[in-house]
Amino acid sequence: MLIFLWAEGHNGVIGENGHLPWHLPADMHFFKTVTTGNTIVAGSRTFHSFGRPLPNRQNIVVTHQPASHFPSEVIVLNTLTAVREYAAKHRDEKIFVVGGAQLFIALLDDVDFLYRTVIDANFTGDTWMPGIDYEKFQLIATQPGIRNEKNPYDYHFEQYQRR
Ligand SMILES: NC(=O)c1ccc[n+]([C@@H]2O[C@H](COP(=O)([O-])OP(=O)(O)OC[C@H]3O[C@@H](n4cnc5c(N)ncnc54)[C@H](OP(=O)(O)O)[C@@H]3O)[C@@H](O)[C@H]2O)c1
Repeated sequence: MLIFLWAEGHNGVIGENGHLPWHLPADMHFFKTVTTGNTIVAGSRTFHSFGRPLPNRQNIVVTHQPASHFPSEVIVLNTLTAVREYAAKHRDEKIFVVGGAQLFIALLDDVDFLYRTVIDANFTGDTWMPGIDYEKFQLIATQPGIRNEKNPYDYHFEQYQRR
């Protein structure tokens, strides 16, 4: 199954200058918890923002570049068709599409679940989540985030399933 996993601020902003516009360790912890032991699929810009393949999960990068440009443990897919074929062959696995915007836009019609962190704050940015028709999805879980010194925003976690 294909799952989008992302965090957005007001107006759907998700990125600035190749990075996240915020520092929210509780969301990073959530990301690690749900993706560990599973598969993540990232566009090459997002993959590079991690700085290294993320441990204890299969890393897939989508790029036009050859596999030799990436660490050997990373699966390199050069087309969206290859991503769809991988998902079809691994239907029972949780495959988390972790961005960025280019990948979210391209796979919007393929996604089965949405895991969204909503941050109730304004950030400047240069990358936005594409518009999603939430009528096509059912909210199946929501959980408030805890605001504290290290996580100085109101935020919450949502999960949607395609209807
Ligand atoms: N808030 C969040 O949850 C979140 C999540 C993810 C990312 N982000 C942010 O979003 C920004 C990056 O997003 P982005 O949209 O600019 O980039 P991206 O989607 O991460 O990566 C774009 C790259 O992916 C490859 N690609 C995309 N479509 C492809 C296709 N059909 N076939 C082959 N390769 C393809 C290309 O790589 P090549 O150029 O190598 O060919 C393209 O340059 C960063 O600021 C990041 O921090 C935020």
